[in-house]
Amino acid sequence: MAAILVTGSNGQLGNEIKVLAEAYPQYNFIYTDIDDLNITDYQQIDHFFTIHNIQYVINCAAYTAVDKAEQETDLARYINANAVKYLSQIAKKYHAYMIHISTDYVFDGKNYKPYTENDPICPTSAYGKTKAEGENELKIHAEKGIIIRTSWLYSSFGHNFVKTILKYGKERGNLNVVFDQIGSPTYARDLAKVVLEIIPQLANQNTIETYHFSNEGVSSWYDFAKVIVELKNIECDIHPIRTEDYPLPAPRPHYSVLDKAKIKKDFNIEIPYWKDSLKRCLELIKD
Ligand SMILES: NC(=O)c1ccc[n+]([C@@H]2O[C@H](COP(=O)([O-])OP(=O)(O)OC[C@H]3O[C@@H](n4cnc5c(N)ncnc54)[C@H](OP(=O)(O)O)[C@@H]3O)[C@@H](O)[C@H]2O)c1
Repeated sequence: MAAILVTGSNGQLGNEIKVLAEAYPQYNFIYTDIDDLNITDYQQIDHFFTIHNIQYVINCAAYTAVDKAEQETDLARYINANAVKYLSQIAKKYHAYMIHISTDYVFDGKNYKPYTENDPICPTSAYGKTKAEGENELKIHAEKGIIIRTSWLYSSFGHNFVKTILKYGKERGNLNVVFDQIGSPTYARDLAKVVLEIIPQLANQNTIETYHFSNEGVSSWYDFAKVIVELKNIECDIHPIRTEDYPLPAPRPHYSVLDKAKIKKDFNIEIPYWKDSLKRCLELIKD
């Protein structure tokens, strides 16, 4: 039975893969996180591959603390770039596919229309730079696989914008949220579903391809927050503010809508509208 190694499986995406994997009994999913498989440890990964018949790696492990990455850039680079090199080299050695997740932060956000996979990258934050380096390492060292760039990821698992708005919305009744950053929210369960749908279709692909995936539709963080509190009937006034009124260590792209035409065409997938996905996620988040 083909084994699928899931790294960073205690995170948002990793947990969603665990939920959906039950529908794929033809695969042996091996879930790991930093305690049992540290992806910055080449020998440990190699040893893992010698024990298990790994044919696919879903790399959900990452350094995702965007603001902290401005200070801890070396650590972020080690996890987001060096470790991707190790995984890619070892996957190549054992002829395994790499399925790697990247980010809209590889773009500078100056576009006025959705980013395609062919648009030049230009990360402005340390996090974005290390993720861009990770993409590059994969392209150099992996034999076959895909990079999926996604944006504004949330889930009922882990920490994310949805959970933050729910918490502070209830506690404060008044929130300021930026309205001048535009993107597309992505429910990690929808991303997990797409990853699992794609894997059986990779069999004849011996190249490395980049894809964009988010939920359908476009939002600002302000609009996203408004819908979160409305759907949960939380009495909270959400006020629109500018990015400059909420300074953070890492710069954010002002516009990071991803064009998903390629992934839809190549893998024949349907993508839910972001508000519909948000409703499904909120039903799982208990008060
Ligand atoms: N979150 C977003 O808004 C967003 C947007 C676009 C793209 N992405 C990308 O989507 C992917 C999944 O994101 P996510 O939100 O699911 O991430 P997440 O919730 O932060 O999960 C990442 C997991 O990786 C683990 N990890 C960290 N260092 C590791 C190491 N050296 N070895 C093994 N595991 C390690 C983390 O453990 P600890 O928690 O103990 O550190 C955590 O369990 C990432 O590649 C991310 O860059 C995320």
